[in-house]
Amino acid sequence: MKTRTVTLTDNATGKSIELPVREGSTGPAAIDISRLYREFGYLTYDPGFQSTASCSSGITYIDGAEGVLLYRGYPIEQLAERSSFLEVAYLLLYGELPAREQFATFQHTITHHTMIKESLRGFYQGFYHDAHPMASMVGVVGSLSAFYHDSTDITDPRHREIAAHRMIAKMPTIAAYSYKYSVGEPFSYPQNSLGYCANLLHMMFSVPSEEYHVDPVAQKALDMIFILHADHEQNASTATVRLSGSSGSNPFACISSGITALWGPAHGGANEAVVHMLSEIGDVKNIARFIARAKDRNDPFRLMGFGHRVYKNYDPRAKIIRKMCHEVLEKFGDTNDPCFELAMRLEEIALKDEYFIERKLYPNVDFYSGIIYRALGIPVNMFTVMFAVARTVGWVAQWMEMIGEPDQRIGRPRQIYSGSQRRDYVPLAERAVSG
Ligand code: ACO
Repeated sequence: MKTRTVTLTDNATGKSIELPVREGSTGPAAIDISRLYREFGYLTYDPGFQSTASCSSGITYIDGAEGVLLYRGYPIEQLAERSSFLEVAYLLLYGELPAREQFATFQHTITHHTMIKESLRGFYQGFYHDAHPMASMVGVVGSLSAFYHDSTDITDPRHREIAAHRMIAKMPTIAAYSYKYSVGEPFSYPQNSLGYCANLLHMMFSVPSEEYHVDPVAQKALDMIFILHADHEQNASTATVRLSGSSGSNPFACISSGITALWGPAHGGANEAVVHMLSEIGDVKNIARFIARAKDRNDPFRLMGFGHRVYKNYDPRAKIIRKMCHEVLEKFGDTNDPCFELAMRLEEIALKDEYFIERKLYPNVDFYSGIIYRALGIPVNMFTVMFAVARTVGWVAQWMEMIGEPDQRIGRPRQIYSGSQRRDYVPLAERAVSG
């Protein structure tokens, strides 16, 4: 079959170049511009990567116009309803749903690698008492490579797999310890009898002086949120992990860089920002004023938890989590907490408002995850940490896919230079004040 091509013509010179089109298995095709600069002398310019496919990946598919999300071909709705986070983790890593024995082995491996070295535990004492848990998480995850030299040879597939298992297994422990340290409570060791999310809840909320029972609704809600957050193709943090990894950095360092990218309010930090925004709004009677601010171009305020770069239709994850949100609120929602009523009213009003309808700004997954976390008693500064635990699976799967590619190269974007032209150095004594 003849390869589809696109011809690009420079209208000033009449010179043309024929570029091949690369087709995926589904979704839009991409013009392969890798020869463009060498043969045509132009770079392409796409700030924010709105039309740029940075890689080819077989892990996650999103159709933003239709609101579709597939992990390895499986619709997110089916996985959220019928699967579990660890099974989804296996699927993302290995490409297929596990058979019973494969899953049992995987579950055993993850469960039996949840502890971290005692000396690594000591790292937490070095952080200031009110350190944001994301800050300590970035540091502790980044330092894992100093402890696990037997899984940092990225050319060895077995090393890569061990590193992947270690990160998925240890992330809840690292997350829970970040929290325990920030509230000055003793760390709780992982319990191998508990499932992945139950263990995380146990490590966060149990104290040595009391029995702690994990609530099944809380465990189910967390497991579902983790499934929804496990991967989301080339978002900012995943692209960061890939870019870090493309230079051959060890996987622990790469995941740590992903955590930093996730932290921002335009990405994973949005769930935390949602709750701050709801506190700022404070009362239902103030909603109209904040909606007006969100619409005002001269006001930087945005409705946190609304809008998405890719979904210009309802975020399919938001649809699933919305239902769970109502279930969780029914069981755990503090009726005296105005945050929950505010969230529901804001959602209702924004969905009817012309500004949001026109721009296709729907509530995203983070609008609801923040509210669920709050109802479960998870402190606000842990929201993005929870996201990081779930997304570690996606980061690791994407990193493994990239490193496993035979023609993998360092990622090196170009730029349009807009600074000074060449000029000569002036000695200090002869220099006038600039600016
Ligand atoms: N509130 C008010 N207006 C908004 C919002 C919002 N939350 N989001 C977008 N808009 C408006 C913009 O002002 C712009 O309006 P204009 O066309 O009149 O100039 C238009 O909608 C398009 O917005 P862009 O900024 O171009 O959209 P982009 O794709 O770059 O941004 C983003 C997407 C960052 C998610 C944005 O919608 C936003 O800031 N949302 C709030 C933060 C948030 O919830 N982030 C979580 C994303 S989900 C995740 O990471 C898991």
